[in-house]
Amino acid sequence: METITYRRTKVYDPALRLIHLWNGLAIIFLMITIWLSDLFDKGVGEDMLWQLHIYLGYALVVGIIARLAWGLVGPQHARFSDMWHPAAWWNAVRNFNLKAKPRFGHNALASGVYLLVYLLLIIMALTGLGLAAVEHSTGPLNPWIGDKTWLKDLFEEPHELIYYGLMGFVIVHIAALIWHEHKDKTPLAQTMVTGYQYEVEPASVNQAGNIEQTQGDDHV
Ligand code: HEM
Ligand code: HEM
Repeated sequence: METITYRRTKVYDPALRLIHLWNGLAIIFLMITIWLSDLFDKGVGEDMLWQLHIYLGYALVVGIIARLAWGLVGPQHARFSDMWHPAAWWNAVRNFNLKAKPRFGHNALASGVYLLVYLLLIIMALTGLGLAAVEHSTGPLNPWIGDKTWLKDLFEEPHELIYYGLMGFVIVHIAALIWHEHKDKTPLAQTMVTGYQYEVEPASVNQAGNIEQTQGDDHV
């Protein structure tokens, strides 16, 4: 019985991992303020919750700007150019082939989803800052549009719709990480914590094509 060995390679730099943590936490806390707001009647509690939502929103805006900048000037696997795989997306749509070729960095199909998520987050930031100005007379857009209350619906509808889309993304994202770990028998979720991506050394898969796991460090 042969044993399997893993090769590991550093792919995600510390700044990218920190930004992922920052934005992930900001989004989860933003969602928590929404879930909690259902429990509060209109009043002091609700006002405080919206204030908290706006401050968390500012934290997310900072995180989004940091990620956009890092996507342009950061190392290879943080760059948006490394996430741009139109041929793989087209193949997935045309042939309904969801199996992307293994590569270092983000999975080619997942990166398409991540880029879409960043686009949605930019819209969330703009509509959120718009709502902060129009509904709460606060934030950087307040001097320009604070008195244009008729803009409320224009901001509120996409903001709410994308909220549902993002909840769906978070569930699918975590489910996909678990599913890939199970299917590929390689640690994946930890990649955004340690920065290391693992691959199975082909020679270590036994003749029946089965994988038997061992533990270890650099050549795991
Ligand atoms: C248990 C929590 C989470 C874990 C373990 C986790 C782990 C990961 C991993 C391993 C990747 C890289 C996957 C790949 O290469 O395809 C990734 C990417 C990503 N995750 Fe998460 N994630 C978590 C929560 C979240 C949450 C709450 C969000 C919020 C929407 C999120 C948004 C993203 C985005 C946008 C990327 C692309 C990263 C980039 O900027 O390059 N993740 N995550
Ligand atoms: C992923 C991030 C975000 C999520 C999931 C989210 C979610 C939501 C939801 C569901 C609502 C209620 C919409 C409705 O009334 O129908 C809301 C309202 C609001 N959001 Fe966000 N939001 C996010 C980001 C932001 C950002 C970046 C800001 C700006 C700083 C912001 C500021 C606001 C404001 C001011 C309101 C209106 C509060 C009120 O009705 O009094 N949000 N948000």
